[in-house]
Amino acid sequence: MTAISITFDDSIATLTIDCPGEKVNTFSGAVMAELDQHLTSLVARKDLRGVIVISGKEGIFVAGADISEIRGISTEADALAKAQEGQRVFQKLADLACPSVAAIHGACLGGGCELALACTARVATDYEKTIIGLPEVSLGFVPGWGGTQRLPRLLGVSTALPLIVSGKPIDAAKAAKIGLVDRVCGKPFLLATAREVLLTLIAGGRSALVTARRPRTFTQKMLDGPFKMLVWSAARKQVMQATKGRMPAPLAAIEVVRTTVGGDLREGLPVEARNFAQLAVSPESRSLVGLFFASEAVKKDGGRPRGPALMRPAVLGAGVMGGGIAWLFAHKGLPVRIKDLTLEAVAKAYKTADDYSRQLVKRRKMTDSEARQVLARIGGGITWTGFKTCDVVVEAVVESVAVKRKVLAEVELEISDDCVLATNTSSLRVADIAQGLKRPQRLVGMHFFNPVNRMPLVEVVAGPASDEDAVARVADLARRCGKTAVVVRDCPGFLVNRILLPYLNEAARILQEGGDVVTIDRVMTAYGLPMGPFRLADEVGIDVGHKVAKILLEGYGDRMPVAEFLGTVHEDLKLLGVKGGAGFYLHPRDKKPQPNPTVRTALTAWRLAHSVTPRQIEAVEIRERCLLIMVNESARCIDEHIVATPALLDLAMVMGTGYPPEQGGPLRYADAYGISQIVQKLQAMAAQLGPRFTPAPLLERMASAGLTFHTSDLAAVRSAPAST
Ligand SMILES: NC(=O)c1ccc[n+]([C@@H]2O[C@H](COP(=O)([O-])OP(=O)(O)OC[C@H]3O[C@@H](n4cnc5c(N)ncnc54)[C@H](O)[C@@H]3O)[C@@H](O)[C@H]2O)c1
Repeated sequence: MTAISITFDDSIATLTIDCPGEKVNTFSGAVMAELDQHLTSLVARKDLRGVIVISGKEGIFVAGADISEIRGISTEADALAKAQEGQRVFQKLADLACPSVAAIHGACLGGGCELALACTARVATDYEKTIIGLPEVSLGFVPGWGGTQRLPRLLGVSTALPLIVSGKPIDAAKAAKIGLVDRVCGKPFLLATAREVLLTLIAGGRSALVTARRPRTFTQKMLDGPFKMLVWSAARKQVMQATKGRMPAPLAAIEVVRTTVGGDLREGLPVEARNFAQLAVSPESRSLVGLFFASEAVKKDGGRPRGPALMRPAVLGAGVMGGGIAWLFAHKGLPVRIKDLTLEAVAKAYKTADDYSRQLVKRRKMTDSEARQVLARIGGGITWTGFKTCDVVVEAVVESVAVKRKVLAEVELEISDDCVLATNTSSLRVADIAQGLKRPQRLVGMHFFNPVNRMPLVEVVAGPASDEDAVARVADLARRCGKTAVVVRDCPGFLVNRILLPYLNEAARILQEGGDVVTIDRVMTAYGLPMGPFRLADEVGIDVGHKVAKILLEGYGDRMPVAEFLGTVHEDLKLLGVKGGAGFYLHPRDKKPQPNPTVRTALTAWRLAHSVTPRQIEAVEIRERCLLIMVNESARCIDEHIVATPALLDLAMVMGTGYPPEQGGPLRYADAYGISQIVQKLQAMAAQLGPRFTPAPLLERMASAGLTFHTSDLAAVRSAPAST
């Protein structure tokens, strides 16, 4: 079966790309070889007047190069050969003696966009899923098949560079405005419009084509011409601000364009290929490509629901989380009921929901009228009105097993037999909450992260009694709400908090021993985390963090001792973090947080009272203690099958905690560090700092067998999954 077919009509060739058996078209080596053969045959046809390239798939043009082939590249030389081959094939298309038109419907990304750029002109449909762009930097490399060369030549550097450096695709209307496509039309007219454009080109050349492009402004002309240096410095500044220089790809993309624009295309292409090759085998790219595959895998995680999609949600508890969850459902078009004990509490949920909508209105992602519609979908109250007809109730009341059991027992009396119960607990075992329920099989964990509007992860927790279909339907609901749903097994803290809390605790221990809040935070942000452990504790709420830490101590014993100073800050100083205006930092309104002097004084007193002589703690020790404690707990989670694969664990940590994507997650960090070296380091730390660093048995087995998390099959060294 071939991926590309060719037909002729009046000496016009139509190349139709339709990868057999695949949902989307991608350019694998085999598809590129087919394209090459077709182009060779077209070069030989003396009567050829023009070429149209179109997709045979409904709703997708070409999604890009086959990423699994990029993942398979092992050396820079292989990567270089791959880039050169793609460039050669697209150049053959560009060099045809006759004009060519790309007819785009659906996603036209990466290699697909580079193919379209090699054509003389482009036509796109006004379909909402028609998007065009070069997202390569988000996978850690630069476009390698001519994208960095042809896009600036077509649009000018000031317009092209932001597209290449951000990696963000644009829709057809925007593409037409800037001149990336020449015509926009409805889907039924795509081929006819492409043909019309082609005939215009045949009759009068490129200059005969009147496009929808807006004329360039004076500023654009200056920036594309004599003031180009401003474009480079602005782009570099923006990238440095956003990534602190940790992502090499966008910086390399700027350099490739800067050093080649205005020159001969044939000299620019090798520069692009070399940069692609170096970056495609970089650790950052390996991490980002790994995360890409993990996020593809989670789309199927939890299986396909057999029961109907959950469409009629209700939320119990109108606090920070309940308000956010209700907003999310309403924002996604689902009418939702929310219940609390008092009308004041319900009003707070409306306020949270309105705040989240306002944030979108401010960024022009929502109109005022849409914001009003979102609020109108939320029906709040203190009675059970509306619960009978719900198909899912999300419980978000206080984190207490007794309260949750009592509340859910009440809910059971008010809902239909097949209504699913989802608890948003952040640390309690679903099995414990399910005790006393008439139908424990319909209780599933649905752990959203705070703030619900911004955090992309939902942990879907399968309790020992949870019905498989209920788990699948909750995962499906989370996905329909635009979240990444990772299915995890039931344990205190589930996956993310079980790994995160030991890290927060360790940071507090370093503080006790002699570190200071700002330095520890700075070390961890330098590693790439969006905020350090103490800023994070303030954001989460010191009361919440302390409570979860105690629940984990109860669940895991000595392995998770709660740093005493956390108790001092919460119980003695009564600090709450951002919500109370002060925590490890002071949080004045509209001003940058400042270190809290009260904490500093209390720390000195705490050290005196506990006879601790503070010692100087170097950055490397801070970083390694914080990261290795996470690695160790991550290894235990893998061994206990809390999550299916190391790739999913890393994805959950990136999505749930902001773990730097270019570092790939704690287990990719472990692989890069070396598993044997990790075991040795943990043993040394255990001897010096305590048994919490005792290496997880899985790490020891992996070190003996020479295995890694991301490239080995761990089946032989992983414990058998427990039945609960
Ligand atoms: N805050 C976070 O960062 C976060 C993150 C993830 C998960 N969670 C979890 O979400 C849940 C809620 O947390 P929160 O931060 O929104 O708490 P919150 O204290 O802001 O809100 C809890 C709400 O539940 C209400 N409530 C108590 N008993 C009730 C009952 N019987 N019926 C109806 N409403 C009742 C309270 O009046 C309050 O409005 C907890 O289980 C928490 O662990 C919190």
